[in-house]
Amino acid sequence: MQPIYITTPIYYANDVPHIGHAYTTVAADVLARFYRFMGNQVFFVTGTDEHGQKIAQKAASLGKKPQEHVDTIVQTFQSLWELLHISHDYFVRTTSTEHYQTAKTFFSRVRGQGDLYKANYAGYYCSGCEEYKDEQELVKGKCPLHPTLTVDWMEEENYFFRWSRYQELLENLFAEHPDFVQPPHRFREMHNFLKTGIQDIPVSRTTISWGIPVPDEEHHVIYVWFDALINYLTALGWGQDTTNPDSPKFTTFWEKGTIIHLMAKDIVSKHSLLWPAMLASANLSMPSHCFAHGFFTKDGSKISKSTGNTIDPRELCTLYGVDAFRYFFLREFTFGEDGDYSANRFHERYTNDLANDLGNLVSRTTAMVRKYFSGKISATPATQLEVWQTFSWKTWQTRMESLQFRESLDGIWTHINALNTYVDQEKPWALAKAGEQDHLASVLATLVEGLRHSALMLTPFIPTTTARILEQLGFPPASAKITPEQQQWQPVDTEVAAEGSILFPRVEHEP
Ligand code: MSP
Repeated sequence: MQPIYITTPIYYANDVPHIGHAYTTVAADVLARFYRFMGNQVFFVTGTDEHGQKIAQKAASLGKKPQEHVDTIVQTFQSLWELLHISHDYFVRTTSTEHYQTAKTFFSRVRGQGDLYKANYAGYYCSGCEEYKDEQELVKGKCPLHPTLTVDWMEEENYFFRWSRYQELLENLFAEHPDFVQPPHRFREMHNFLKTGIQDIPVSRTTISWGIPVPDEEHHVIYVWFDALINYLTALGWGQDTTNPDSPKFTTFWEKGTIIHLMAKDIVSKHSLLWPAMLASANLSMPSHCFAHGFFTKDGSKISKSTGNTIDPRELCTLYGVDAFRYFFLREFTFGEDGDYSANRFHERYTNDLANDLGNLVSRTTAMVRKYFSGKISATPATQLEVWQTFSWKTWQTRMESLQFRESLDGIWTHINALNTYVDQEKPWALAKAGEQDHLASVLATLVEGLRHSALMLTPFIPTTTARILEQLGFPPASAKITPEQQQWQPVDTEVAAEGSILFPRVEHEP
């Protein structure tokens, strides 16, 4: 089975994490949990990007040293990931000694290939994007993405990366791997950008000092994007040993594995055009996929601190619970498209999907098993409900592998809704009254078995809740790896929990 390497972007440690960071990280976590469940060896990495002008400026504005500032911010990322049950295997920090070493090995290798040359740069720089800007990209003299910031005019000596040398290599990569960038509209966008011609870019700075010093030329620091992309190698331990840079994890996950980089559309060009060229220059192999999701707005407007319309992940978790948070964003928005957040929709989905459709079904089912069979049921369920024909384990797997999280949850909910309809049609209470014990047992076994499958399919999304569902139904917790037997529709022989706690308590809250 293919080893799988999953990464999120490393987030700027200039400020505390926000909803966009949480969205990518939860999605990556669901994917990592899915692949582990399928039995793949997974290495899942997230982390923080701690250099660059923006962070140096932010620290200065707070009267702090940059290191002191990032050390505080990084803790807020780590504690949010803990709260959200993110199961990363490694947290990379670009101020770590490991990253310094990997970045230096990488830089030296690219310089050794003749792909770095010194020249003077004169032009604009946006510290919001941490990017050089052509004059024609500016709108009224400002970066269109960061209209509240001024762009800086820069004149300095830099190392330039011969990005243009990799034009043909990138064209071949795009021609041979039409799924390299996903979804397809982002692939076309990047492909069109590539056709306009790649230009060399500066990859060191001499007018700022907050960065990794260039080997043997310490008055240069490595440009923040060049530094940041290398994190994906640091996490695997590449380049620590300069005489033998290929670490065992690198060999397993980079050379023999499938590499999936997740991000939003804002940084897909860096990952799909710059990063492959850097890797080619260092003589390393290409990532398999770059998947770019969309951006959120809130109630139709851009999310921004200055207008006060932020979405606080912690607040939502306190109010509705961590699993509701994990569920909502992946169910509500198509992964890959932009989405507009509304607190009303969150509340509605919590109440309808989680509390009513799922939570009530579990509590009704277990209550009926307790009432009619003293908690123990041993019966053959009816044949699978018809929805199983359209949304099977196979369909679930295909959708998960294609990062179609919403579609996967839609499918699981067709099961849950079909089970709810089934209860209404079969009316177990009427069967009990009529003394039709065998039929009643088969109906309840169908519900228990249907819920078992639904809980297993939901495990990568809402692992805490599904563990509770399985426990309430009297099943062992989901094993680390799903087996073909567990995916079979089978006779039920279980004792449900004596008392079930409510999975999704009512939230009395005016959104
Ligand atoms: N440090 C760079 C990434 C370097 S990766 C080698 C960076 N950091 S960032 O803090 O700005 O994070 C950008 C990422 O955060 C996006 O690609 C996306 O994953 C997430 N999001 C930030 N804002 C977002 C929204 N409004 N909506 C959805 N996700 C967004 O860029």
